[in-house]
Amino acid sequence: MYRFFVTSPIAKLLWGILASLVGIIVLLLVLVSEDTRMAAQTVNWEGRSIENGATLFANNCTRCHGPNGQGLPGLGPALNSFYFFMEKGRLQDIGWVGSLEDYVSLTIAAGRPSKTNSPWAEVMPTWGSQFGGPLRGDQVEDLTAYVLNWREFALAQTAEEDPFQPFPDVNNAVEFQNAAFLLLSEEEQAIAREEFKARNIRSPQELWTSEVCSACHNINERQVDVRGQSGPNMADLYERAGSRVEGLTAEEYVYESIVDPTAFVVASYEAAGQMPENFAEKLSEDEIRGLVEWLLDPNREP
Ligand code: HEC
Ligand code: HEC
Repeated sequence: MYRFFVTSPIAKLLWGILASLVGIIVLLLVLVSEDTRMAAQTVNWEGRSIENGATLFANNCTRCHGPNGQGLPGLGPALNSFYFFMEKGRLQDIGWVGSLEDYVSLTIAAGRPSKTNSPWAEVMPTWGSQFGGPLRGDQVEDLTAYVLNWREFALAQTAEEDPFQPFPDVNNAVEFQNAAFLLLSEEEQAIAREEFKARNIRSPQELWTSEVCSACHNINERQVDVRGQSGPNMADLYERAGSRVEGLTAEEYVYESIVDPTAFVVASYEAAGQMPENFAEKLSEDEIRGLVEWLLDPNREP
């Protein structure tokens, strides 16, 4: 019996296989525990990054964004808000196609130093050293981790609790930049939009500035030869509009230019293509008609 288990060639072979199996099992166990160890390490590391971010935030950001990122009226927008984290909220309104993480880290690193016509008292400063700011790349990462860490809390807020503050310069009326609207179903949202359009009739002058037509177009009567920043001068549009497109009256042409800017593109602006294409959604029918009439009025009041 003993001889069989210890010295026979078959037994040696079996012992060999057994030993290898044990070896493999031990190796697997080590690998598995290494995995959990690594995972624990990552959590630990992320935790530290968020902690560093919290300190950096307290020192650099609270004066405009508030102690917990709820924003401060007139100083800085809320970040710890439903609107900011909600998929169809802030990012959709500004047309950002990347991730929220990229949006946050890029905004922190680059800031928005040259932004004009914003409702806040000061601009968002540049922080990343690659853009000439005071913080290193890893500090920007820590701040990003800290801001993103609010996600769960921010999304759990009710419409009343959400500290959002509307942005006037996005592809969505300020009335719709809040949790109460974002939580509606798509049909309810469509109804709310229609109701809003029906009760809100803003004057052409008001729209000209609030919809930033003025940022691209020049309508100053005394500057008919001066191009707008990025769109055609329209001070004497009433003289040209009727002959722009064959078959369209001046009114029809201007109406079409506002609701469907690419239908006819004014020569030398082909490459520009910057006229927003969503005015038909943002403005009511009456508002668009009002703008058309105002733009074509030779005695227009500025
Ligand atoms: C001087 C005031 C000020 C300080 C300090 C400041 N911010 Fe801002 N921040 C702003 C303003 C104003 C905006 C909105 C800019 C705009 O209108 O687009 C903004 C925008 C942002 C946004 C994008 C918000 C959005 O909805 O698009 C993020 C993220 C942000 N800040 C993070 C930070 C962090 C992190 C810090 C600290 C390192 C910081 N900010 C410090 C004023 C400030
Ligand atoms: C971001 C820049 C931009 C904004 C904002 C903008 N436009 Fe334009 N617009 C353009 C450009 C560029 C063109 C020329 C290309 C084209 O015809 O589509 C143009 C063309 C037009 C034309 C045709 C002008 C002509 O000489 O035939 C009208 C009318 C017009 N815009 C009205 C408006 C009104 C009204 C608003 C605001 C509700 C507005 N635009 C906002 C850039 C802009």
